[in-house]
Amino acid sequence: MGISILSAIFIAGVIGASGAELATVGSEKFLGAPSCSSTSCHGGAGEKNNQNLIWSKLDFHSRSYATLTSARSERFAEVLKLGDATKSARCTTCHAPFQTVEEKHRLAAAKPVQGVSCETCHAPAENWLRSHTRPDFTHSDRVASGMRDLKSLYVRANTCVACHQTLDTEISAAGHPDLLFELDGQSVSEPKHWRDADQTTGPQSWLIGQAVALRELSWQLSREQKRDENLVARWSALVWLLQQVGELDSGFPTLKSVSFKAETADFESAQKASDALARRVAETTWTDTMTRTCLTRLSQTAAAFQDPKTATKIHARRAERLVLGLDRLIIRLEDKQAKELDPAVRSLFKSVQSIPDFQPEAFAKEITQLADKLRL
Ligand code: HEC
Ligand code: HEC
Ligand code: HEC
Repeated sequence: MGISILSAIFIAGVIGASGAELATVGSEKFLGAPSCSSTSCHGGAGEKNNQNLIWSKLDFHSRSYATLTSARSERFAEVLKLGDATKSARCTTCHAPFQTVEEKHRLAAAKPVQGVSCETCHAPAENWLRSHTRPDFTHSDRVASGMRDLKSLYVRANTCVACHQTLDTEISAAGHPDLLFELDGQSVSEPKHWRDADQTTGPQSWLIGQAVALRELSWQLSREQKRDENLVARWSALVWLLQQVGELDSGFPTLKSVSFKAETADFESAQKASDALARRVAETTWTDTMTRTCLTRLSQTAAAFQDPKTATKIHARRAERLVLGLDRLIIRLEDKQAKELDPAVRSLFKSVQSIPDFQPEAFAKEITQLADKLRL
């Protein structure tokens, strides 16, 4: 019987996930991409069975192993004294997960060069490969036999965030791009090989994604002896963001009681509170009113950027998360209004492009102008 990434994580008593956990769930075997990609299965060219074609030709995830052979990766490996990046678990947990799976848990066909492949996201297929094609099998039957329930936005968020938010500070210091998780936008940029039944889940995905991103950063910070200042700034920005969103429904979990100041921060309670929030949002039937409420509250934050007691770096990190959110929310407004606001959103993105050059006063003005243009 397959156990999901979540139960594995909860059994271990930690909420934080990492790429490594996606490779070590349960004891069933990984079979490798070739098991999924025969032409009669997911290796076709038609819309219903072209998943392998999309993944292998268009998806960045099929190239993540190759990235480890680039000159840039060689440089990181040299700085970090890892030897060969394609063989070091510090890189392969995210870029070539099969490399970190013990051989007894994978067939020879599950090769590290496949990068982030079907079973990395959908879970090892040993126990569900045969049964999942049965016409009488429902989605929940498949999940019961070990396939990961990626239709649940909470489970989906946990799967993606495992590789898309937290990175050892040493690897960042070696020059690796900063990771910034945002489920909705990143699900749109990943060339989709699926159709979501409900196209209106954007803002809900965004909010669940931000909550799990905070949970992961809290988990990382709760374990670090020496707290990286940059990481704390990014963490506190997310706490701030979710506090601005506030309660969307009665009894909604909020982060009101979490202090976002580094000196008084309680990372463990932030970790629990953000997980509770993510679960609750995932269970909620999202409404247009909720989208509008989020948008109203986030667009009325100009005053916060005029507070001289807050360090510019913190303002910049808040603005970074705020703009990502405004973008995902505005996209869901009626076409006409979304189009009208597009130049303002672009301009906001420009103002957060460079963290060192961020200008809080100018940003506050732009947010005020946006709030004036929004007719909610
Ligand atoms: C096992 C780790 C892992 C998982 C799980 C994972 N990714 Fe990725 N993802 C990566 C890596 C590594 C890259 C960089 C690929 C490269 O080498 O260019 C990447 C790149 C991307 C990119 C392109 C770069 C960017 O950030 O815009 C998108 C979009 C993306 N992933 C979305 C997702 C989504 C959505 C999910 C969940 C459904 C997901 N990923 C799950 C590891 C992962
Ligand atoms: C926690 C997961 C994770 C770990 C660990 C990790 N990476 Fe990445 N890496 C990513 C993701 C996700 C991206 C895509 C980021 C983006 O574009 O937003 C990425 C991007 C990169 C890029 C830039 C790719 C490009 O074309 O711009 C390089 C190079 C890279 N990683 C090399 C490494 C090396 C070498 C290691 C080990 C020292 C490593 N990574 C460890 C997740 C990870
Ligand atoms: C980065 C994570 C990721 C990778 C890699 C990945 N998938 Fe998916 N896949 C998803 C998500 C998320 C969904 C949407 C949830 C769902 O429909 O279950 C999905 C949905 C699907 C669906 C359902 C399509 C539909 O519209 O109902 C199939 C079939 C599928 N994937 C097959 C594959 C195959 C085959 C591969 C490898 C060639 C693969 N996936 C690789 C994340 C991934």
